[in-house]
Amino acid sequence: MKNYLDTTIDVYRKAAETPNLGLCCTTTPIWQLPDLKIPKIMLEMNYGCGCTVNPRDLVNNPKILYIGVGGGMELLQFAYFSRNKGSVIGVDVVDEMLMASRANFVQAEAMNPWFESNFIELKRGNALNLPLDNESIDVAAQNCLFNIFESDDLKKALKETFRVLKPHGRLVLSDPICEQLMPTALKNDHTLRAECLSGAIPLQKYIELLTGIGFGTIEIRARRPYRVLSPNQYNTDELIYIESIEVCAIKDPMPDDGPCVFTGKTAIYYGEDEFFDDNKGHTLTQNQPISVCDKTAKALNELNKEIYISESTFHYDGGGCC
Ligand SMILES: C[S@@+](CC[C@H](N)C(=O)[O-])C[C@H]1O[C@@H](n2cnc3c(N)ncnc32)[C@H](O)[C@@H]1O
Repeated sequence: MKNYLDTTIDVYRKAAETPNLGLCCTTTPIWQLPDLKIPKIMLEMNYGCGCTVNPRDLVNNPKILYIGVGGGMELLQFAYFSRNKGSVIGVDVVDEMLMASRANFVQAEAMNPWFESNFIELKRGNALNLPLDNESIDVAAQNCLFNIFESDDLKKALKETFRVLKPHGRLVLSDPICEQLMPTALKNDHTLRAECLSGAIPLQKYIELLTGIGFGTIEIRARRPYRVLSPNQYNTDELIYIESIEVCAIKDPMPDDGPCVFTGKTAIYYGEDEFFDDNKGHTLTQNQPISVCDKTAKALNELNKEIYISESTFHYDGGGCC
């Protein structure tokens, strides 16, 4: 009997040969950037569930790894910011997907005078055993692939990505999450799993996997509605709600008191003094919002001072006090 990884390869072999518009979908707007023209076929083969390309991650000519290339749209977007031969490495286990993305880059080259296909190096390889040296990558990205992996393989894929990242390197990812218990019948349906519909895990669990592997800083950049699995269409008694997230996990050393996880909490000191200093490196100027990680938010809250701590917005985009 086929295992789920074989089914996944079959699903993406077909999706490489004929674009499947219903396969994965994102409500994240596609980057509109000066002089960036995206071939129609890349849009049709957008099998992601969010966005992993963020110029903030792309300073100092980073070496970029993209795992699970799809039609190549995000690799083209990464190349837009890097523009050097071989600066983006794309790895995929499906030969047909590598061929399709290669053909799409040729189209992109004809439409974008700044772009050369050789900015992108395509390699056949598996996310579970990356064909790359230790600590050779600055920014690794995966969009809507790791959710497909069953628990042990997910850990393997995350560990592999961690291995190839340089110290302080970044894993930027987008994946579906689900806070409900996924019915076993759906979880074990290999095709649904391959289609990114039934492998989703809760956000907290995902964060724990990342920090358990050693990522010292986690940024939750976006959290959006993604799909529903309804009883009249799927083998489930209740409606299952799936969201998609965008996360950046940074290979910073693990702080002694645990990881810094930014979920979009903000602290605002509203006391009478000009500022409040917790003597642990956090200075809050009166009435000025400051982004804080969840650990700091909890510690500040426990001080019972005049400090307002917001709920998590799940929209953290940099800055802050840790
Ligand atoms: C859901 S698609 C996402 C494609 C792309 N990231 C996007 O946003 O359009 C998953 C991609 O991962 C590839 N893939 C599947 N299993 C893989 C594995 N074990 N290792 C590497 N790539 C894999 C598929 O061929 C496909 O290109």
